[in-house]
Amino acid sequence: MTADWTRGYASDIDYTRGWYRELSPLWLDTALALAGVAPPQEPGRGQGDDGAQGPVWLELGCGHGLSALALAAARPDVTVIAVDFNPTHIHGAQRLARAAGLSNIRLMEADFAELAEDAAGLLPPVDYVALHGVYTWVGEESRGHIARLIARRLKPGGAAYLSYNCLPGWAAAMPVQFLLNAYGQALPGPKAAAGDQARDLLLHLLNQGAGYFTGNAAASARADRLRGATAPYLVHEYMHSGWRPAYHAQVADDLAAAKLSYAGSAAWVENFPDLMMTRTQQDMAAAAPTRALAETVKDYVTNQPLRRDIFVRGPLALDARQRVARLGALRLVALGEPGAALPDFTLPLGPPDPEVSRLFHPVLAVLAGGPATLADLVEHLARTVADWGPDSAGCLLRAVAILVAGDVLAPCLADAQIQAALPGVRRLNQALLADSLVAGAPLDAEARLPERLASAVTGGGVLASVEEMRALAAHWAGEVVMPPDALSRLARLGVV
Ligand SMILES: C[S@@+](CC[C@H](N)C(=O)[O-])C[C@H]1O[C@@H](n2cnc3c(N)ncnc32)[C@H](O)[C@@H]1O
Repeated sequence: MTADWTRGYASDIDYTRGWYRELSPLWLDTALALAGVAPPQEPGRGQGDDGAQGPVWLELGCGHGLSALALAAARPDVTVIAVDFNPTHIHGAQRLARAAGLSNIRLMEADFAELAEDAAGLLPPVDYVALHGVYTWVGEESRGHIARLIARRLKPGGAAYLSYNCLPGWAAAMPVQFLLNAYGQALPGPKAAAGDQARDLLLHLLNQGAGYFTGNAAASARADRLRGATAPYLVHEYMHSGWRPAYHAQVADDLAAAKLSYAGSAAWVENFPDLMMTRTQQDMAAAAPTRALAETVKDYVTNQPLRRDIFVRGPLALDARQRVARLGALRLVALGEPGAALPDFTLPLGPPDPEVSRLFHPVLAVLAGGPATLADLVEHLARTVADWGPDSAGCLLRAVAILVAGDVLAPCLADAQIQAALPGVRRLNQALLADSLVAGAPLDAEARLPERLASAVTGGGVLASVEEMRALAAHWAGEVVMPPDALSRLARLGVV
């Protein structure tokens, strides 16, 4: 590939094959409801006012398109459009879409610049636009194209999800990225080789007690994490000339021109200020002169390096009754085996409040019987948990958000949707495994394994172990007639 179509974005190596649960409409709608904002798919909001049958969802910079493919398979009612300028990414995704027989997905090889002008009317108006790990990886010019594209195509009430590297959380470690990128610019040949050289240098500096690292624990930790990074990750994460973390207030300002307002976080827990900040810190954030600066002050408190923001074009508040109705109808499914150990949940304020964490096991006990709505959980727990009081429903919401953050629970589609999605999801998973693993293949084939498989139950990707994928491949290859036990969890999650 020549460099001229890349706009400084390193494209001489393909990106890793990632899935991102935050991109799905169900996930985003729920995050917005938690934040008290009406989601694009509000019941009663007329569909078809622009001719589309159901919601239209657009992903910009889709990489290999796995999140988009899983959504298309699990939500035949959604029109999925996924864009990337790297032809290898789009070609691979198109091949998977064809193999899975998905007819509701359009995978477009295009540059954001073409779509921002869109003189040919390539894109319809959309309800959702999603960008995971794109906005602060591309240069200033491309960011402008993204904002213009959203301004032209996002419908009133539509939601834009952007995850991006943010400041001040990234400030201490920016010099790590500088050397990686500078080596990539200075050395001829493949970026991956230049990245390796720069990584070795950084680790050597770390080991030799360079002052930058001795005075800077966050930078040392980040450099240390480079040890295990694969070449595609190293190149795509760090080696773009336009890479620039941003303050939330700057991103909010960029998107204000597209008439977008910050509405909430796709990290569900972040919509509960008391889970992120002390009372005094919350008051300091609340005293900021604008919402954008309040969020930015929050970032100084948490020092997080990545934000997962949802902006809405013309947000409307949900009143308390609407919010309770929406959240009460939310269905949840347990992702692990019943009785599996819980991960260690770390929040910026330390371990969750015991009033919240005491609900983890009762929630999982109810969900061991199958998916349940939040209203079902409230009804059940109010009868069975000691000292259930007026604040307990709020604690339950927080417990659920924390369990979801830890990939212990996920939002779940309705039974009719699951049934409609199963055939397409199975075909997609078959195609994915055929693409990366055949039963009995040598272990190095695992390098190409997807981290997740599509799920008709969650409408996205669910983590699957190498053993589960091997068992599934053997089952589909006809080597195992009855689904083995290893597949019971995947069957429950609508993967097989
Ligand atoms: C860091 S990767 C993220 C990919 C994917 N969203 C993920 O998180 O796995 C950024 C993606 O944006 C694409 N990209 C960068 N600049 C672009 C542009 N100007 N137009 C279209 N796609 C672009 C790249 O090819 C790459 O796949």
